[in-house]
Amino acid sequence: MSDTLPLLRRLWRDEVRRFLPVLLAALILMTLEGATLGAMSYLVQPLFDEVFVAGNATAVQGIALAIAGIFTLRAVAGFGQRVLVMGVGLKVTTALQTRALDHLLDLDAGYFQANAPGDLIERVRGDTLALQQTASAALMTVGRDAISLVSLLAVMLWVDWRWALIAFVGVPILILPLALLQRWIRDTTRQARGSASLLSTRLDEIFHGMVSIKVNRLEDHERARFGREVAGFLTAQIRSETGKAALPAVIDVIAAAGFLGVLLYGGAEILAGEKTVGAFMSFFTAMALLFDPLRRLSMVSGQVQAAAASLERIYAMLDVRATVLPPAAPVPIAAGRLVFHDVDFAYGQEPVLQRLSFTAEAGQTTALVGPSGAGKSTVFALLTRLIDAKSGAITIGGTDVAAADPADLRGLIAYVGQDAALFDETIAENIRLGRLDATMDEICAAAAAASVTAFTDAMAAGLGTRVGPRGASLSGGQRQRVAIARAVLRDAPILLLDEPTSALDTASERVVQAALTDLAKGRTTLMIAHRLSTIRDADKIVVIDRGGAVESGSHDALMAKGGLYANLVAAQASFGRQNGVGGSGSPPGHAPDRHPK
Ligand SMILES: Nc1ncnc2c1ncn2[C@@H]1O[C@H](COP(=O)(O)OP(=O)(O)OP(=O)(O)O)[C@@H](O)[C@H]1O
Ligand SMILES: [Mg+2]
Repeated sequence: MSDTLPLLRRLWRDEVRRFLPVLLAALILMTLEGATLGAMSYLVQPLFDEVFVAGNATAVQGIALAIAGIFTLRAVAGFGQRVLVMGVGLKVTTALQTRALDHLLDLDAGYFQANAPGDLIERVRGDTLALQQTASAALMTVGRDAISLVSLLAVMLWVDWRWALIAFVGVPILILPLALLQRWIRDTTRQARGSASLLSTRLDEIFHGMVSIKVNRLEDHERARFGREVAGFLTAQIRSETGKAALPAVIDVIAAAGFLGVLLYGGAEILAGEKTVGAFMSFFTAMALLFDPLRRLSMVSGQVQAAAASLERIYAMLDVRATVLPPAAPVPIAAGRLVFHDVDFAYGQEPVLQRLSFTAEAGQTTALVGPSGAGKSTVFALLTRLIDAKSGAITIGGTDVAAADPADLRGLIAYVGQDAALFDETIAENIRLGRLDATMDEICAAAAAASVTAFTDAMAAGLGTRVGPRGASLSGGQRQRVAIARAVLRDAPILLLDEPTSALDTASERVVQAALTDLAKGRTTLMIAHRLSTIRDADKIVVIDRGGAVESGSHDALMAKGGLYANLVAAQASFGRQNGVGGSGSPPGHAPDRHPK
């Protein structure tokens, strides 16, 4: 319970407090609704003593009207408070969801490599919904039932305070079990929420990996794995629900002891003529009515624990801080020469780049080549500040990229990655993402330059064709061309191309390569390529191996040198000869994976 309070206090301060007027109105309605129960049990006394015992016929009409009035009031007040509380609950939930996405969009790219989309979706959607359900239920109950409880207690005390004490003889023995139950609910709910995350992650992976699952015939494997994980979730959820169900049961045990005591003690007093039947009945009604709200209030404590388990997960996500931050006083940055000077970088413990140094001259095309896993894509991630170097300096036009605002830095760069990220919109909309204020004419021109129109012209909807989730209804080469069109439209002074034509056939590659050469004119271009024939004409070639630049120069100079580059070229040429293909048609010359150690 102790660590629950700070969570609730934070929720109140950040999200709920601004609804204070609405909540106060709801509280007034709850008070009215709750007080009706006390009034009901209070009316039982005149009903018995004056109507049934004294035989006063006129009193019955008054009492009947009063009871009808009380129920009507209860109906109106109950309806009103439920609508108000539900509205606040929904607004708090959606505000939390918006805040979560807002926050996540500012986090480092690394966070999303470490945290599965399914888990994050479950936190943003699942936990906020769980919170809303439990919290609004708890709030409605607390307001109304606490008032009911107080009004009924007042009636009990008014009838006889000794009887009231006896009614609660069972409480002290059950305090410890109640406390243990709370802990149990919190722990099992936490496990259930974790399992829910795992399930969402698994579903996300299955749906994204459907093709691999099918061609590798992994359906049964995935079924079995999902089945095990569902079973884990089920166990945790059932434990948590059992804990919640045990709370009202504990209250009923208290009620049993109370009724026993009051009946034995109070019954004797009535038989002895010390109390009226009406007083006894009024007390008894109040007591019977009291245990119902008490039972619900006990469930609230379980709901609060469940809500805390979700809140914990939401706040753990909201408390992650980005490490790639704009500096306090960002310096302006402009395009120019790109320099890596003794740059070290590691994902975790494993060094990826070690003292990497090279220069890419402004307005020229520099190619990065090297074995798979050498660290080429990592160079691009550092340039765009998706990640930050451990040591060394990266400068653009003499300005350290770490001193600039990442937004300014990225504004200078057009980037075409190894896998083109398309969104489920039209091809035109996907291209527009390069520059949101582009006109349709500019989009069409970019589409033509990147040979997108070469395949959209045959489509009924042309550039208006939807691409499906993650661009699934386009071929790999078509997706790549859309990504290139985006870069063309972006018209940025620095161009980063990470194997932009790897998915294209020889004919389309020639066309797109020509478009890229055109695009690269006058821009500072860094291009990663495995198919070495595509970078032969680069102004400079930098060969990266094991996280460092091992040689650099023009194609001719490197060939003459007879180093790693010449070996790679020779390997590709011989592979091409053996397989009966040549020139730029040779397959990507992936040397065996080499990881820098
Ligand atoms: N997010 C990551 N977390 C941990 N290690 C990573 C991550 N991304 C890359 N690596 C590791 O960093 C090394 C360099 O990766 P990088 O993607 O830069 O290679 P690359 O030269 O672009 O290779 P390829 O030619 O195959 O694209 C690899 O050993 C890889 O395993
Ligand atoms: Mg790469």
